[in-house]
Amino acid sequence: MAGNVQSKSFSRGKSSSLKGFLDKLLQRKNSADVPSPGPSTTTDNGMTDAVSMTSRVPHTLCRTTKRRLIDTIKPPNCHFQIANVLDGLPFPDNTFDYVNQRMLTFAIKENEWPSLITEILRVTKPNGWVEFLEFDLQSYNRGPLNTEGLKPTFYAFKSRGINPYIARKLDRFLVKAGVVNVAKDWVSIPLNWGGRLGQLFYDDVREVLISFRPYLTKVTGLSNEEYDAKIKASLEECKEYKTYNNFYAAWGQAPDESAEKV
Ligand SMILES: C[S@@+](CC[C@H](N)C(=O)[O-])C[C@H]1O[C@@H](n2cnc3c(N)ncnc32)[C@H](O)[C@@H]1O
Repeated sequence: MAGNVQSKSFSRGKSSSLKGFLDKLLQRKNSADVPSPGPSTTTDNGMTDAVSMTSRVPHTLCRTTKRRLIDTIKPPNCHFQIANVLDGLPFPDNTFDYVNQRMLTFAIKENEWPSLITEILRVTKPNGWVEFLEFDLQSYNRGPLNTEGLKPTFYAFKSRGINPYIARKLDRFLVKAGVVNVAKDWVSIPLNWGGRLGQLFYDDVREVLISFRPYLTKVTGLSNEEYDAKIKASLEECKEYKTYNNFYAAWGQAPDESAEKV
């Protein structure tokens, strides 16, 4: 079963996409636990679809490529900016009341996380909020095909310095970086079962696995056809075993160093 990770009930909300569902998870936290910053400025790193959070506050989205920066769907107070968070964000110190980063697990090496968080804190105002939401590669209730596929995927990331289980450690990174009032939560998402959410997650995972094909066929020696057949069979197997993954959110406040000195 789930090892030392406990399972929560799976959401069967009506989000039209997995990203929509994740937005709702964040919004729920924002309304329940995080005081509203009021009219101010926010930024999202690695965001492609954060416009739902932008209605009342000036807002900046950062990502590395120009692909799908669709100006027509964004509210007027939302601004797209191309930047690599690892090279430093192109904003002065203490710019934002709220910084959100989501779904960069596979793009950031484990040893890059501490300086990335420090950089995010630099652009966050004292007492401003930072929030991260990330996917954990570990799947639970795995069948044999899924277990077989997880190993090369895990080692492919490991060999590049990426920890695909980093999501569950984000709160500790935040504490180490000096973030205060740190909290975390997580939610389990069914893979290819459990209604629409499971279907959406299946679509996402399938696309991700297809994007890994060039690398994983090299590592495993499988042909493209064999690889695709394995993906299909292992995702099909998830229905029978009721496989799921966890998504983790961790958030907290930038320290107010001037207050500490008083
Ligand atoms: C999996 S997508 C997640 C998109 C969005 N954050 C979401 O949750 O829907 C990863 C995004 O991170 C961006 N990205 C990857 N590495 C980055 C970096 N070093 N700096 C800024 N953005 C990055 C990619 O361009 C891509 O848009």
